Amino acid sequence: MKVLMINGSPHNHGTTRRALDELAGTLHAADIQSDIMTIGQKRLPGCIACGKCDGRCRAFDDDVNVALEKLEHADALVLASPVYFASPNGTLLCFLDRMFSAGHDAAFLGKPAACVAVARRAGTTASLDVLAKYPAIRAMPLVTSTYWAMVHGSDAAQAEQDEEGMEVMRNLGLNLTWLLQCIALGKENGKTAPVPAAPGHRTDFIR
Ligand SMILES: Cc1cc2nc3c(=O)[nH]c(=O)nc-3n(C[C@H](O)[C@H](O)[C@H](O)COP(=O)(O)O)c2cc1C
Repeated sequence: MKVLMINGSPHNHGTTRRALDELAGTLHAADIQSDIMTIGQKRLPGCIACGKCDGRCRAFDDDVNVALEKLEHADALVLASPVYFASPNGTLLCFLDRMFSAGHDAAFLGKPAACVAVARRAGTTASLDVLAKYPAIRAMPLVTSTYWAMVHGSDAAQAEQDEEGMEVMRNLGLNLTWLLQCIALGKENGKTAPVPAAPGHRTDFIR
């Protein structure tokens, strides 16, 4: 099994990466691989509402399409962000707006998702609220931990000193492992994620 992790940070070895490494370590102990994409240094435009999505973003062929391709072969998704002005960082939001608009249902449906926020001091819960909106609109079961999934620090060394934050990452890994194993057992016994009943109903509030 494999988990795709999107790291919004521009730092390959920063605080967010340290939090993800702790999570990935727990997954690895259960033979679950992690694929971490760090996207914060890329030039990634936001959605231009061209309406041409067909499983891939047709406005810009960049890391969003790489992530969609990877997600099709992954069993779960983790969205992780450094906090910028009490929100997820802007590059990650541009990325996620397009990723979650463009992808086919099959890439997302029924795959567990977890969200992680990292900050020097404040804005983590607000950021987690924003991040959770993406999997919640794509029928992805949200995985939680023993506290909101946050780590505090300005760099990887400080993150390591956040003992509770590190423990929360490990517990998130244990819960994600458990859910992935339950889903795999279910598949072996003919239980798969439900297919949405009525695709295509988009009722605006004026109707
Ligand atoms: C533009 C910018 C805005 C930031 N805003 C916040 C903030 O609102 N709250 C906070 O606690 N830290 C804030 N920080 C600090 C980062 O969240 C913190 O340094 C984090 O550890 C960076 O993670 P990284 O090493 O994975 O990039 C901000 C940093 C930058 C560059």
